[in-house]
Amino acid sequence: MSKDRPILEVKHLSVEFKTREGILKAVNDVSFDVNPAEMIGIVGESGCGKSVTSKAIMKLIGNRKNEFLSGKVIFKGENILEKSEKEMQKIRGRDQALISQDPMTSLNPLFKVGQQIAEVPRIHQKVAKKNAWEKAIKMLETVKVPSAGQRANQYPHQFSGGMLQRCIIAMGLSCEPELLIADEPTTALDVTIQAQVLKLIMDLKKQFGTAIILITHDLGVVAQTCDTVAVLYAGSIVEMTSKKSLFKSPRHPYTRGLLESIPNPAKKGLLNPIGGQPPNLVKLPQGCPFHPRCGLALAKCRETKPDLKNRSENHRVACWLEESHE
Ligand SMILES: Nc1ncnc2c1ncn2[C@@H]1O[C@H](COP(=O)(O)OP(=O)(O)OP(=O)(O)O)[C@@H](O)[C@H]1O
Ligand SMILES: [Mg+2]
Repeated sequence: MSKDRPILEVKHLSVEFKTREGILKAVNDVSFDVNPAEMIGIVGESGCGKSVTSKAIMKLIGNRKNEFLSGKVIFKGENILEKSEKEMQKIRGRDQALISQDPMTSLNPLFKVGQQIAEVPRIHQKVAKKNAWEKAIKMLETVKVPSAGQRANQYPHQFSGGMLQRCIIAMGLSCEPELLIADEPTTALDVTIQAQVLKLIMDLKKQFGTAIILITHDLGVVAQTCDTVAVLYAGSIVEMTSKKSLFKSPRHPYTRGLLESIPNPAKKGLLNPIGGQPPNLVKLPQGCPFHPRCGLALAKCRETKPDLKNRSENHRVACWLEESHE
């Protein structure tokens, strides 16, 4: 695979769920690329479609009757959405790994942690049982679990939340996947452990050249880690650029609002949260989905949804205010 080609190309991805209330548009025409050894952050408020996007990339949704996927997810040059479940089972774990939002759902309480990590190379790389066990211990050492040999013989309930999250990361990385999706990997952890886990993910990116999608609602986490950031609002990317330009010159009113709501001990006064609530995804407003909460909305914003366009080099923004500047 060419080094110049992105490892992942998400093209016009949309995900809809048929619900009792109507069609819920969880992801709307989302497009972005991820290069090898690149770390992309996807940020946005709760319910904006972050986890659904990540599951669609691994084709973990779209298999049930009420789930509808459209667009393309090109992974290593092939459209994942056209693969059968059997083919996907080979790709997941071997080439793509997901560290999910809730560590407890990723591990089986009835099996030793080492056994569960060893299973990944045993299935995907046909590694012999003994070698897979040794590899599991090595991975636990890589993620800095102390006394890895002993810990491998323990069950999930014998671990603290932070240590368990390290085990999930070890499991995700045991086949050295080319793409790792980490969905809120540190939300349940206290800040010191959070910093350690993030450092670990970044070290692994350096060591293995893994492409990483980091999903978080925390812009502080993005500031410490990512190369590129996509801001998601109500299932659509509203701004996407390098971390540096996002923090230095945010252009979408929603991104600015998010940045202003980060606690900053150096600033006096109260935080400035974004007013209002994210829209109901079954009844998305006409026009820009952010317009009901946007203090700068124009008449056009209430009528037509703006496209995500390149406004300056490597800075894509979906906002009508940008057009009025041009
Ligand atoms: N299987 C499903 N059936 C119906 N609706 C779903 C399903 N999965 C997710 N949704 C809805 O899709 C929307 C996006 O959900 P998603 O889990 O991607 O949010 P999120 O951005 O990850 O939020 P959080 O930060 O809380 O994890 C939500 O409105 C959610 O209720
Ligand atoms: Mg989520």
